[in-house]
Amino acid sequence: MAGVSGAIAAPAGPKREARSSTGQVPFFGMHQAGITTAAQDRLAFAAFDVRCTRRNELVHLLQRWSAAAALLTSGLPVGPSSDTDTVPADTGETLGLGPARLTITVGFGPSLFDGRFGLAARRPAALAPLPAFPGDDLDPQRSGGDICVQACADDPQVAFHAVRDLARIAGARARMRWLQFGFGRTSSTSDAQTTPRNLMGFKDGTDNITAQQFEHLDRYVWVGESDDQAWMGGGTYAVARRIVMNLAKWDDDELGDQQAVFGRTKASGAPLSGARESDPPDLAAVGADGKPLIPMDAHIRLAAPSTNGGQRILRRGYSFTDGLDPASRAIEAGLFFVAFQRDPRHQFVPIQRRLAHADALNEYIRHTSSALFAVPPGLRGPGDWFGRDLFS
Ligand code: HEM
Repeated sequence: MAGVSGAIAAPAGPKREARSSTGQVPFFGMHQAGITTAAQDRLAFAAFDVRCTRRNELVHLLQRWSAAAALLTSGLPVGPSSDTDTVPADTGETLGLGPARLTITVGFGPSLFDGRFGLAARRPAALAPLPAFPGDDLDPQRSGGDICVQACADDPQVAFHAVRDLARIAGARARMRWLQFGFGRTSSTSDAQTTPRNLMGFKDGTDNITAQQFEHLDRYVWVGESDDQAWMGGGTYAVARRIVMNLAKWDDDELGDQQAVFGRTKASGAPLSGARESDPPDLAAVGADGKPLIPMDAHIRLAAPSTNGGQRILRRGYSFTDGLDPASRAIEAGLFFVAFQRDPRHQFVPIQRRLAHADALNEYIRHTSSALFAVPPGLRGPGDWFGRDLFS
């Protein structure tokens, strides 16, 4: 495969991601794609446990994945498939489908820095394992992981193919630990996108950081060059939580109760203190009865920047279903929450702590998995590879 060896000083890519009419999202750039990229329709999110023991084997894997990701995001197969005497390099199910705005985003979990690969001293302070939160019901088999691969695309087969073929390339060097598919984005990450709805029927992603909010991105999403580990400059941290919804219970709830849970109107998405979706929530507004229009335990009150020391996160989650729960025969479905931020210790953790203690939504949801990854900066050009500065 061309251009996968060692460090090559390629010029820095564009700082701001361009949109293309060919369905191709640029793979190279200052930041990895799949973060501020206008959220695609589908997700395949995989976490891997690294099984090889030598550092150079891991480096080789990351180089192979980088070269393959450059091809896949261009709509190309990972290798030739036409020689009848050899096993096809690419599994083939996306031939003819085009790039479908595929992005491949790679991150490193805290466990990768445990000393196996000589990386312990390079672990950023912000990559501290997430604390336990009240109500957590986490399945360890679906949590954690040494490396994550987030594949997002407008075509489910393209997203599936990306993680499938990257897992194939990894072979025995890294085994998939867990895999989550998602559909129906639950956020907007571009001002050009309309707000989608989550499986509870509410508009989700109204007050989110978007690709056009450069100041917010620099302040709340991208790691600065002067943060403790220089190799993370231009990177970010991803938190993933699989949150199961008790849909049967939710569906039996009155509309007024549902709206009080979020603090927003179901049809329009407007805050209960306003008339339009774009109206900023007025947390101080009270009704004729003297009670707050947005209840004290409403989700948007507890998650709002103003109740969290001004902190914001970039949400980029997806709805999911894993079919029927075999025990209860209820639909196992919910939100696969993904959020990007500059330092989870000051962003996701305090927000989730507040939500876990008091959110009215807790009656209807259960966090069943949890993972945290350091997402290094983007690749500068052909020959660059995921995490090169971490290993250099
Ligand atoms: C199943 C779980 C969840 C559901 C269904 C949900 C749904 C929603 C909805 C409908 C909104 C209002 C519209 C919007 O501004 O996007 C919202 C806002 C928000 N949510 Fe969630 N959410 C969930 C979990 C979480 C978690 C775990 C966090 C972070 C720890 C979080 C953080 C936020 C934030 C920061 C806002 C924006 C608040 C504001 O600025 O007004 N949410 N969520």
